[in-house]
Amino acid sequence: MKNELEIFNEIVDELLKIEDSVPVAKLGAPEEMLEKFDISVSDDAMSDKDLRAVLGKVVLNTPRTASRSFFNQLFGGRMPAATLGELLSVMLNISMYTYKVAGPHVGIEIELINKICQMIGYPAEESGGTFAPGGSMSNFMSVIMARDHYDADIKLQGVSKKLIIYTSAEAHYSIAKNATFAGIGRDNVRYLPVNDRGQMDAGLLEEMIIADRENGAHPFLINATAGTTVLGSFDDIETLAHIAKKHEIWLHVDGAYGGSVIFSEKHKHLVKGLEKADSFSINPHKMLGTPLSCSMIVTKHKKQLVDSFSQDATYLYQGNTDDYNLGKTSLQCGRRNDAFKFWSLWKSVGTKGLESTVDQLYHLADVGREYVTNHCDYTLYSFEESTSVCFNYKDIPADKICNALADHGKLMVGHGSFKGQQFVRFVTVNSRLTETDIVRFFEEFEKFTDSHIF
Ligand SMILES: Cc1ncc(COP(=O)(O)O)c(C=O)c1O
Repeated sequence: MKNELEIFNEIVDELLKIEDSVPVAKLGAPEEMLEKFDISVSDDAMSDKDLRAVLGKVVLNTPRTASRSFFNQLFGGRMPAATLGELLSVMLNISMYTYKVAGPHVGIEIELINKICQMIGYPAEESGGTFAPGGSMSNFMSVIMARDHYDADIKLQGVSKKLIIYTSAEAHYSIAKNATFAGIGRDNVRYLPVNDRGQMDAGLLEEMIIADRENGAHPFLINATAGTTVLGSFDDIETLAHIAKKHEIWLHVDGAYGGSVIFSEKHKHLVKGLEKADSFSINPHKMLGTPLSCSMIVTKHKKQLVDSFSQDATYLYQGNTDDYNLGKTSLQCGRRNDAFKFWSLWKSVGTKGLESTVDQLYHLADVGREYVTNHCDYTLYSFEESTSVCFNYKDIPADKICNALADHGKLMVGHGSFKGQQFVRFVTVNSRLTETDIVRFFEEFEKFTDSHIF
């Protein structure tokens, strides 16, 4: 491995330099880009020198998500201690299903789950959770738990009822996909309208539940969103929890994007009532800057998690109690170690450091929003509870500007839409950036846009 680690260090040195000097990689058209490399795999071996060359070329031509010009997605940046933990996980290459092959990492994962449960106010004895391969899959696990909680026979006999999920029109698209995977069916997802701030209209929810029941359907899950994908809006959990309790329906809070506000004294009011939800998902790979993927689902019904996901396998579980065999509560069999990088980050910066991270993201979003409101060529569409700053510039179509910025290797920023209005969605998820980086974004954005015809 010594040779490979040297190659690794050399390539990473080059990457860090280029990330700084040329923050956006110019990709060009896919066909053009793929022709630049010897992508094909062949029968013959390659020399170390040639391998190093091709690996370096691929790395240096890859989109630079940790650079100061990347605002395109709900992740970005590189938290050093988290990256260190991830690199060590790769070297260890364990699987998280049993204590026998994961050793101390089982304890690390349990510590993180317990800590999150404690922070949101779940009762210690009855709560549990796991790491899933991303927020979509964490949400999927909530659908399965809610479904089995509603009717335990489904696990054995399959779905034979018209089961109904309620969520908002602004919910993440994984809710529809998960309805398919869980045998619920996409047509059985009810999308509630949202108010002008992008929050679910809870007023209509009760009426819909009652009407569905009267029509012989079976409402079983309300999915609230803490940080919607486009606007970053937070549904009113307190009100939804009240309705869920009254109608005996499982409440899941999808906090993949905004759930990390639980770390901030200043912003955790956005998830007020979270302790009343039956399950909650959170993605440290978004706001907390942990490398992809790092997503957790926690529930205050650990028994349901076990009932839904445990399966005996004598070839796997060979010793130790199930408390330490985490495969009994996970989605997969072989499972990569997503806990160590988050633990390594948390250990390094402490809970206070994670709080500063979240607060810094909101501060950077404030800087962006202030810039937009103070410059008359802009229109703002998002709100202060969000780290997504949604805007238009001189009424130029957002998709055209965003695509041109990327094509010319200037800035990486995406676009979204809300109630039929398209806009640029500028996301402050890299807490290592500064106010200067935010202002520089807008200056470069204007300079580029003003010098092109759209
Ligand atoms: C609200 C919300 N939920 C779920 C997800 C899915 O998370 P992942 O990309 O980790 O699957 C996202 C991703 O952007 C999201 O914004």
